[in-house]
Amino acid sequence: MKRSTLITVVLISYTLFCCVSYTYANLFFNTTDLTLLVNDSSTITLTLTDPIPENTTLFLTTKHKDILTANVSQIEVPNSTNYKKWQVKLLGHDVGHDILKVDSLPPLKETGETFVRVTVQHSNELALISEIVGWIYFVAWSISFYPQMYENWVRKSVVGLNFDFTVLNVLGFVLYSMFNIGLWMPEIEKEYFDRNPRGLNPVQLNDIFFSIHAVVATVITVIQCYIYERADQHVSWTAKLIMIFYGLILTVLLVFVNLNKIMWLDFLYYCSYIKLSITLIKYIPQGVMNYKRKSTIGWSIGNIFLDFTGGILSILQMIINAYNYNDWASVFGDPTKFGLGLLSIIFDIIFFLQHYVFYGGNNYQEFENRNVVEVDDQDEVTNSEDCSESSDKPDSQLC
Ligand SMILES: *[C@@H]1O[C@H](CO)[C@@H](O)[C@H](O)[C@H]1NC(C)=O
Ligand SMILES: *[C@@H]1O[C@H](CO)[C@@H](O)[C@H](O)[C@H]1NC(C)=O
Ligand SMILES: *[C@@H]1O[C@H](CO)[C@@H](O)[C@H](O)[C@H]1NC(C)=O
Ligand SMILES: *[C@@H]1O[C@H](CO)[C@@H](O)[C@H](O)[C@H]1NC(C)=O
Repeated sequence: MKRSTLITVVLISYTLFCCVSYTYANLFFNTTDLTLLVNDSSTITLTLTDPIPENTTLFLTTKHKDILTANVSQIEVPNSTNYKKWQVKLLGHDVGHDILKVDSLPPLKETGETFVRVTVQHSNELALISEIVGWIYFVAWSISFYPQMYENWVRKSVVGLNFDFTVLNVLGFVLYSMFNIGLWMPEIEKEYFDRNPRGLNPVQLNDIFFSIHAVVATVITVIQCYIYERADQHVSWTAKLIMIFYGLILTVLLVFVNLNKIMWLDFLYYCSYIKLSITLIKYIPQGVMNYKRKSTIGWSIGNIFLDFTGGILSILQMIINAYNYNDWASVFGDPTKFGLGLLSIIFDIIFFLQHYVFYGGNNYQEFENRNVVEVDDQDEVTNSEDCSESSDKPDSQLC
């Protein structure tokens, strides 16, 4: 091995070692997240690994004594200690979220925060049901893009599908993907944890999958708008101005990021707010268009059915969790999430009414007309055959 290579290897291992010894505090619990039932208990281990220079007292505290307590509240550590483990028993008293944290006096140097996030819940079964409901709405929302694509493909036409809705949808999911992917990038995730030291990354792997898939599906729909029959449909000036406005906001924010006025994390949060505002408005042009045409032909009701299923289940999951963790604030305290879910459902109901009630007759009539045309064609064919067969008959000129 060359000398320079050896030095590099030594340097890299040294750097790695430093990072590791820096990242892992010398005082830590064997877990960071724990779930308990009411009146249930669980034992965790607190470990100290590095020698401490002076006699130290550790204080173990929880925020809400009515939710969670530990059987140990104070530990005296003599200065001769360099490795020790303690068993701590946690007792859940009422449902809710709490954190057990350790403070030391005098403060231990180079120790990050030592804590365990604890959830005390009513029932493990409800937690399981909540997870299953979560997977069902993830699937419903993911496949909700396909009925529209299928309908366009079968009709070889996008007449009836609003182009403003289509382009706003792409922009919304691009921004949402940026938020999700961004929060998984190490530097930005670090910004998040610096700001929320005991928080959980709000983005899960299936959020990333969902949003990237949504971008692909909505882009394919836009491509369909180019290649299939579209009559005189186009993206309206209102939608173009709205998108230019969003573009300007994003540009200004990017400049601010470059000037270090705001962090990337803030930029991503603004992206997610723009995505929310798009969700708020994107269905309006489609509803208006259906109203003007007095028809929903070309606008897939399967898409709305799946969107509706997903919306209802996501709200159901929020309610199950709110009960299981007695955390109603997360439902009603976060008006954007709950309000948007509710608003989507209201739009879906309007589309159901347009499709089945208001313009149900028109839709049926147009469907009938199309069939009549086909039947006429067949009649002509049969008639002409009749004629050719019976051309010698006197009434053949009737053909
Ligand atoms: C928990 O224990 C208390 C006191 O023993 C009792 O009153 C309460 O009903 C119990 N709660 C549950 C959910 O078991
Ligand atoms: C540190 O603790 C040990 C044992 O608990 C005690 O004997 C000693 O006096 C303490 N030292 C100081 C400086 O407080
Ligand atoms: C502990 O502290 C005492 C008094 O402060 C000191 O004399 C002794 O050397 C220390 N022991 C260790 C292992 O550092
Ligand atoms: C707390 O509970 C643990 C586990 O049951 C036990 O080992 C420990 O001695 C208890 N500590 C106190 C101060 O009771």
